[in-house]
Amino acid sequence: MKIVIIGASGRLGAALVRAYQGKFDVTGFNHAQLDLANQSQIQDNLSPLEFNLLINCAAMTDVDLCEQEIDQAFAINAEGPQLVARICRDKNAKMIHFSTDYVFDGEKREPYTECDAVKPISVYGESKRTGEKLVLQTQDRSASAKATADRHLVIRVSWVFGPDRPSFVDAMIKRGREEEQINAVADKFSTPTYTSDIAEMLQSFFHVDAPGGVLHFSNSGQCSWQEYAQHAIDCCHRLNIPLKVKTVGALTLADMKNWVARRPVYSVLSSAKYTQLIGTTPRSWRDAVSDYIEHSYSKK
Ligand SMILES: NC(=O)c1ccc[n+]([C@@H]2O[C@H](COP(=O)([O-])OP(=O)(O)OC[C@H]3O[C@@H](n4cnc5c(N)ncnc54)[C@H](OP(=O)(O)O)[C@@H]3O)[C@@H](O)[C@H]2O)c1
Repeated sequence: MKIVIIGASGRLGAALVRAYQGKFDVTGFNHAQLDLANQSQIQDNLSPLEFNLLINCAAMTDVDLCEQEIDQAFAINAEGPQLVARICRDKNAKMIHFSTDYVFDGEKREPYTECDAVKPISVYGESKRTGEKLVLQTQDRSASAKATADRHLVIRVSWVFGPDRPSFVDAMIKRGREEEQINAVADKFSTPTYTSDIAEMLQSFFHVDAPGGVLHFSNSGQCSWQEYAQHAIDCCHRLNIPLKVKTVGALTLADMKNWVARRPVYSVLSSAKYTQLIGTTPRSWRDAVSDYIEHSYSKK
């Protein structure tokens, strides 16, 4: 199987390249090599290539910057992926496109399923939602719609962490090394999700006949940022990783005065459809975070 990965130096893309490069024929493109905002660069890079599967991990992920650079957000998160989807369709290749829990408004208080209505409350969420729609529409409008219907797959993930680029958990550990008192938001909820678990879960969907459409991927369970940070700090203490902090204090969303974009308060993604399709439940976010900290921090 020949796989192309776009966004190969990002948090998720780098993890996927590492996980797959020994097993498959993988070609990765980083931002400098392929700019999703540059349509001719997309054509020039992808059209000459032969591949069966393309995974798009690239995105404009700075939620606040998207509010200021709206055209750029839509170019990268929606129009670029649409052209990529067209090229995949024309090559009879499958596209897996990553999206986000931020397509929801966060008003629900139980996990969002793939059937729930999307209602983004930020430019980032709106641009990602448009990208989802354009990618999925592209296959349906193809001349060979029957052969390719539901081939492209949109995977929504939440609170992604992993060793390839620092995220919230790394910021909390860094601060906990330097300060005795750290705080995190206690009234915003979702599920931390480990890039290496995504890499493993994703492989069941590589086959061209694997189900397309929209699918939610996350580790199991849910938490606030404060609970997430506290668990990470507890793991460090258990592993004798030296930290100054012991207890993470609570902040509220209302305290986050620097945020420009609105964020959903509750954006837990249900993995019930994944479990129904594959027959296994993703491991808990607590186990995934412990595993990550053990592998990434205990020898540092
Ligand atoms: N991180 C999360 O918590 C989270 C949550 C929900 C969903 N997601 C989704 O998961 C996917 C992967 O995110 P991630 O966590 O890996 O984010 P990330 O670390 O920010 O990676 C995004 C990648 O996209 C690249 N990129 C940015 N602009 C680009 C452009 N114009 N053309 C080509 N590449 C460009 C970035 O390159 P440079 O850094 O070099 O610019 C980076 O390598 C995205 O679809 C994101 O929306 C992430």
